[in-house]
Formats: sequence, structure tokens, C-alpha cells
Amino acid sequence: MDLGIRNKNVLIVGASKGIGRAIAVAFAKEGAKVTTIARSEELLIDLQKEINELNNENNKYYVSDLMEDNANALALKILEERGAFDIVVHNVGGSLVSRNALGTLEEWQYAWKFNAGIAIDMNNILIPPMIEKGWGRVVHISSISAKMLRGNPLYASSKEFLNAYVTTVGRELASKGVVMTAVMPGAVAFPGSYWDNYTHTDPARCEDFLRHHQAAGRFGTVKEIADVVLFMASEQASFMQAALIPVDGANM
Ligand SMILES: NC(=O)c1ccc[n+]([C@@H]2O[C@H](COP(=O)([O-])OP(=O)(O)OC[C@H]3O[C@@H](n4cnc5c(N)ncnc54)[C@H](OP(=O)(O)O)[C@@H]3O)[C@@H](O)[C@H]2O)c1
Repeated sequence: MDLGIRNKNVLIVGASKGIGRAIAVAFAKEGAKVTTIARSEELLIDLQKEINELNNENNKYYVSDLMEDNANALALKILEERGAFDIVVHNVGGSLVSRNALGTLEEWQYAWKFNAGIAIDMNNILIPPMIEKGWGRVVHISSISAKMLRGNPLYASSKEFLNAYVTTVGRELASKGVVMTAVMPGAVAFPGSYWDNYTHTDPARCEDFLRHHQAAGRFGTVKEIADVVLFMASEQASFMQAALIPVDGANM
């Protein structure tokens, strides 16, 4: 199936490793022009080498700590240097935030900014040119935790806020040619990841988690998430406005 992604101008926020890296490689394989952002320059250089071999080498990376830097200003700079984007994937986020349900406002704000705020701040700059062109795809990496509302309360609540943002803003954009969606992964393991570490340090905990919470009985792979993101960014997703898509091995 031709996904219509060749030569599309794509930005992946949080692309140096894990799910984000797999997404960047998947877009490069489809012949997209890929721009990436993360904190680790070393990892971004390594990724850039790999994707330059896959497409026309018109790729670029930006090093930024988006929790410290002004994400809105960075979006503006990247827009000026790389042109209006067709596709943006927001992947920054994670559960490694405070787990204290009675945490401070600062702790809750940190979790919210990490999992939703950065994307919202960048969309403010990146989406208006899509509306002008009448075509765009904005895919957010949420989590099945948003639906199940289990585990770390700060993480689950922040991702649930992100889902509400995608639903409400996705509807606002629906008639403008811009399809905003979220993909909700279940537990995904890759070398160095949270779950991969547990498979080595506490295999019993992993087995217990898989038996009780993922009906598929295994962790997902980064490719299984990236393939769905590709589809959500494609021409074929033209009637999927505001969709929240689980990719979770039947989380329960
Ligand atoms: N893995 C799972 O099981 C799972 C399950 C459900 C949902 N998710 C969601 O999927 C997304 C990716 O998860 P992952 O497991 O692949 O996470 P990860 O390995 O921690 O990767 C996150 C990416 O974001 C970048 N990043 C982190 N903090 C940043 C910051 N302050 N500024 C700029 N870039 C930053 C990281 O690069 P640097 O470290 O180089 O900055 C990395 O490229 C997250 O939103 C997560 O909540 C993951």
C-alpha cells in the first residue's frame, strides 16, 4: 500500500531512542524528509547516519531539552529553517515522573508538561501552516494508561489530559484537512527500556505483569507502534480525525 508519505516534511519530537527512533526510521524508509529533536546529540547523529542511507539525505536534527528550553520558540526556528511540516509526531513523555499521588503542584505540572504541555506549545506554531495548506497529520504518542487509569497517577492523568486535548482539538481541526490523533501503546520493550531492564532485574515481576495486564502475553515492539504511527500519518487516515488508537496487546 502506498501511504503517500514520500517527500513529506516530517518532524519527530523525541526521536533519539526507543519508539521515537523507530518512528524516524519508518518515515525515512517511506522516503520522507525527516527532522528530529532530542537531548542526546550522540544518539541523534547515529540516527541521522542510519536514515540518511534510507532516503534523500535531506534530514536534520536539533538538540534541545524541551523541559528547559522554550519549545514554542524552537518550533518557530525549526519551521523557518525546514519549512511548513506536513506531519508532526509528538513522542516526548514517559512515566519516570513523580509517583506521589499527593505530590506538589510543581510535580503535577512537570508530569503534565512532559506528557502534554510540550506538544501543545509546539502545535501552537506548527499547526497554523498546515491549516493554510489544507493538509496535515499530527500524531501524539499517548499511553494505554490514559484509558485504564492505572499505575502512576501523575503519568496516567497527564496522558488522559493529552487524550482529551486530542479529542477536543482534533474535532476543531477536523474540517480543515488536519487530522490530529493519538496512538496509545501498551507496554513496549526495547534494549535499555524500562520494561527491558525489568526482564533482567526482576523477571518474575515482568511475567506477573504480562499474565495479568497484556492479554497477548508479551511486550510490544517499537516497530509495532511505528507502523501504526505511519498509517495515522498517511493519506489513508483521512477520516480518522481525533481518533485515540490503542496498540497494546489487549491491555486489561
Ligand atoms: N515504552 C513503553 O512501554 C510505552 C508505553 C506506553 C506509552 N509510551 C509512550 O511512548 C513515548 C516514548 O516512550 P519510550 O519508552 O520510547 O521513551 P524513551 O526511551 O524515554 O524515549 C523518549 C524520547 O524522548 C526524548 N526526550 C526525553 N526527554 C526529553 C526532553 N526533555 N527534551 C527533548 N527530548 C526528550 C528522548 O531522547 P533524549 O533522552 O536523547 O532526550 C527519547 O528520544 C512516551 O511518550 C511514552 O509515554 C511508552
